[in-house]
Amino acid sequence: MLKKENILLVDDDIQILELLQRHLESMDFHTFKAVSVKEALYILKDTPVDLLITDVNMPEINGIELVKYTAEHFPDMPKLVVTGFPSAEDAFSVFKSGVTDYLTKPFTKKELAEAVKKSLVSVKPKKEKPIAQSANTSNGYADMIGESEAFQKVTEIIDRVKDNRATILVRGESGTGKELVARAIHYSGKFARSPFVAVNCAAIPENLLEAELFGYTKGAFTGANETRNGFFQAANNGTIFLDEIGDAPLPVQTRLLRVLQEKEVTKIGSQKAEKLEVRVIAATNIDLEELIEKKMFREDLYYRLSVVSVKVPPLRDRKDDIPLLVNRFLFKYGVEYKDHIVQIEPQALEILQRYSWPGNIRELENVIQRAVIMCDRKITLKELPEELKYKIDFPKKGYQSLKDFEREYIQKVLVHTKGNKTKAAEILQIDRKTLREKLK
Ligand SMILES: Nc1ncnc2c1ncn2[C@@H]1O[C@H](COP(=O)(O)OP(=O)(O)OP(=O)(O)O)[C@@H](O)[C@H]1O
Ligand SMILES: [Mg+2]
Repeated sequence: MLKKENILLVDDDIQILELLQRHLESMDFHTFKAVSVKEALYILKDTPVDLLITDVNMPEINGIELVKYTAEHFPDMPKLVVTGFPSAEDAFSVFKSGVTDYLTKPFTKKELAEAVKKSLVSVKPKKEKPIAQSANTSNGYADMIGESEAFQKVTEIIDRVKDNRATILVRGESGTGKELVARAIHYSGKFARSPFVAVNCAAIPENLLEAELFGYTKGAFTGANETRNGFFQAANNGTIFLDEIGDAPLPVQTRLLRVLQEKEVTKIGSQKAEKLEVRVIAATNIDLEELIEKKMFREDLYYRLSVVSVKVPPLRDRKDDIPLLVNRFLFKYGVEYKDHIVQIEPQALEILQRYSWPGNIRELENVIQRAVIMCDRKITLKELPEELKYKIDFPKKGYQSLKDFEREYIQKVLVHTKGNKTKAAEILQIDRKTLREKLK
């Protein structure tokens, strides 16, 4: 055995926990202890666990719920149940919930060793279809969820570019996960140990952006009291992520072009160029071609940047991924805000799958976060925002009010424009602000 396996032990009885720990560590396993399901969830959130050993009867949430939950979120993780009260009913529901083996207290060290061995072996081979691959970090792209066909094109490109320094342009609507893609490229590739420096070109005032990116020498401009490195120097050997590149003013674009061509940076106020090895990933949610036409973006820079271009699909084109994403966020916010596992009613999930998500994954995440805070044990229709529900085509009963009619019509237009509010406002012949007010 090359690596020590991580075993998570869950029992409200500390003595049993310690006994299990002693036995398992003597067998050369690494163990984590939790006295409640809630604590176990915290551990699962950050730690790759190879085997779960849990008690059944515990106050608050019992072990069966934990097994069911992990069966969904960590399908590849074997689950071994230990209990002092092996009722037939328990045994039945435990096995149904996807547990690998069952051990009754008291047990000998030998029985434990055999059960652990059997569990670890039993699950390993069937790795075909992980449900929530990112919940455990076993996939390369730690935080990224997506199995849909549309998303697979993205992961294929990531695989191809992660180990070289080709410049990459990531496009996609707001909230689709462009930054996450950039991080995945960096952290899954061969330069992962070097810095990843993210710069939001829209957030830094125009007159400062140049100095911040490329650095400056003492006296280069008023206020330049010392010689300073910029983000490019900071990212040397690693990756610089230029978010919202469309907002970079033209002088910055010119300098950037030179950096990409010459692979060297010259600080503002200096004559001396410094050699750099930096991979540039740029991102945009606006159409750069349009900016080029308006002479607001340099065409030559555009071609330099888009050596490889990745389009992150909008959520409405990858609706198959919605349940996986929902699960992910239920887990994340359940652990953050609640003392118990949060679930979602099938009708509520159905609504989430029908909605068009103009704000993409960020909007979905916000909706789940809020719903987790507002709900008791389960997210129901009640906790979902009103506008999501309008999207459902309920059969019409008689006449509706003017307001409802207007709302429905606006939604229809938005569906037609695939959530593009600018286009919708054009069709409706109102300005964007009015549309925004109405959407509220
Ligand atoms: N595939 C994914 N799996 C899980 N979470 C995701 C995924 N893609 C995006 N997210 C989450 O959605 C949110 C938005 O992602 P991100 O910031 O990368 O989007 P963006 O495209 O850069 O948006 P913007 O254009 O508004 O800057 C983040 O909280 C991110 O963690
Ligand atoms: Mg972003």
